[in-house]
Amino acid sequence: VYVSEIFREKSPAEFFKDNPELAGFSNPTRALYTSIRELFENAMDAAELLGVPPKIIVRLLPAKRFGLEAEDVYLLRVEDNGIGIPPENVPPAFCKVFYGSKYVERQTRGHFGMGASMVVLYSQARLGTPVRVLTSPAKKTEEGIEPSKRIYEFVMKIDLKRNEPIVLKRKKYRNKHRRHGTIVELFIPGDYSRARSRIVEYFRQTAIIAPYASITFVDPSLHVYHFYRASDEVPPPPKDVKPHPYGIDLETLQRMIAELKPKTVLELLTNGFQQVGKKTALYVLEAAGIDPKADPRRLSVSKLRKLIEVMQNPPPGYEKKIRFRRPTTESLSPAGLSNIERGLRKEVNAEIISTHSEVGSYSGHPFIVEVAIAYGGKASEGEFSIYRFANKIPLLYDLKEDVVYNVVSNFNRSNYGIRKDMPITILTHICSTKVPYKSAGKESVAPVPEIEKALKKSLRHAAQKIRLYLSAVKKERELKRKLSEYMRYLPLIATFSARLSMHKYPPPIRTLIDEIEEEVEKEKMRRLKVAGVESAEKDRTDRVPLRVFLRYAPEIRGRTCRISRTAVRIDHNPSAYPGPCI
Ligand SMILES: Nc1ncnc2c1ncn2[C@@H]1O[C@H](COP(=O)(O)OP(=O)(O)OP(=O)(O)O)[C@@H](O)[C@H]1O
Ligand SMILES: [Mg+2]
Repeated sequence: VYVSEIFREKSPAEFFKDNPELAGFSNPTRALYTSIRELFENAMDAAELLGVPPKIIVRLLPAKRFGLEAEDVYLLRVEDNGIGIPPENVPPAFCKVFYGSKYVERQTRGHFGMGASMVVLYSQARLGTPVRVLTSPAKKTEEGIEPSKRIYEFVMKIDLKRNEPIVLKRKKYRNKHRRHGTIVELFIPGDYSRARSRIVEYFRQTAIIAPYASITFVDPSLHVYHFYRASDEVPPPPKDVKPHPYGIDLETLQRMIAELKPKTVLELLTNGFQQVGKKTALYVLEAAGIDPKADPRRLSVSKLRKLIEVMQNPPPGYEKKIRFRRPTTESLSPAGLSNIERGLRKEVNAEIISTHSEVGSYSGHPFIVEVAIAYGGKASEGEFSIYRFANKIPLLYDLKEDVVYNVVSNFNRSNYGIRKDMPITILTHICSTKVPYKSAGKESVAPVPEIEKALKKSLRHAAQKIRLYLSAVKKERELKRKLSEYMRYLPLIATFSARLSMHKYPPPIRTLIDEIEEEVEKEKMRRLKVAGVESAEKDRTDRVPLRVFLRYAPEIRGRTCRISRTAVRIDHNPSAYPGPCI
């Protein structure tokens, strides 16, 4: 019998519908968590790219309230005050797998161009319902932010076979209140009672790394978790930069030639790349045997290959001449050590926080690692509490797979006077134009040697201050013990010795005690100075009026919730937009 194989094509949308676990949608609990994450991260990116403090409201409400009769299905609605999306890009951004604005050399949470469409795909495959997006894009001008005059509404589905959007409804509204930002709304099946702790933890950790954001989460039982804004320092938006010679391949080089249309190879090297000066470019061309005036479009593939080879592995004699500076960090947007410190202080309530950061690069991609060690507060005892972040995303799953796990498990705590029973929190943040995630679900980072080294170094540096602090604590405690013993026994010894030597009065002991008291005080000051307590800031709160909360929630829960009647409004008023109607 002759058996023949049947061949057919599969679009990316179909592929991910059949393999959702590759993108973090492995079971209903995880899928709910991932859906919220993907939409929320887009919202945070959108606000940060515009350079405004993010104000994000996430609602997860029982679908029954919106006419969808099904158990364990929710309406997920994410609102942001970000840059918005030009209307022509809305359908593909949400309904085409592998379409996005973040395929550039720039640090953002998003990178793959598939998060939003995966959520839409998941919802559509399970429930058959569409996604609804409302957006008013903003332009950044010299005078400030200029929101569009219109709000655009789209209701859409994905054509799985073609991986293309199907627009079911398109409408325009007048942007009366001149708002900017986006609302995304869709139905998601899932198990909230199981996913709750992870979801809340995810928001809590985002509030640590981005304390300049105001985050509100309304859950299906109408509980509101509000993470107030505790910092005015929004990190500068990342800049879009040119590629670095160490980060390119043949395909990229050919695309650069086609897009930039440089007249000469010399121009290609000096204008197309970052960190390539004219002198080095000439050495490169000399080593590759290419005429600097040659037209790059006429170069053969083998010549182009040679060009890359020479830049990345200079031939003998050129090692010193062909060297490029580390890629620029302008494309990065780290959290900032002071933000990390504020965030940790707010959420962990530590006695002392020590931070350090290192800059580096791997394969042409720049990175910054930020590390903080906190002592005291809510850390779990015995093991370190570890908070991992990559491009400001909290990583809650797959700790043991992560590069940070290697580094922290090899960290020699006893060198720094840290005992096992001490409450220690370690926070690590890796930011890069390309974080080497192990999977598209973005849960763990691969052990790239350069990153591992920078993490180790930062941890050691940060631990120095903890060591000083702990030694001051120990000394203070010893002195206090000495003092209390002296206070107890010195008067007795004094009276006894007076009696023995037949003196009428015991010798003076006050000066001795004074001296020790002074020493204790000095040690305490030293400890406080190490901790930098005098510089610790007062708790700043972005207050939200009670009535706004009460509208969402009959009962308010959440540690970080602050309520006040004398408050600024949440000015992202949901009623300004037409209500849910999908
Ligand atoms: N809330 C939003 N505000 C502004 N633009 C958005 C928003 N949500 C999505 N976008 C746009 O849609 C594009 C696609 O989003 P999507 O989440 O699919 O991909 P991504 O964020 O680029 O990468 P990743 O798959 O890693 O999340 C984004 O690149 C962005 O341009
Ligand atoms: Mg995204």
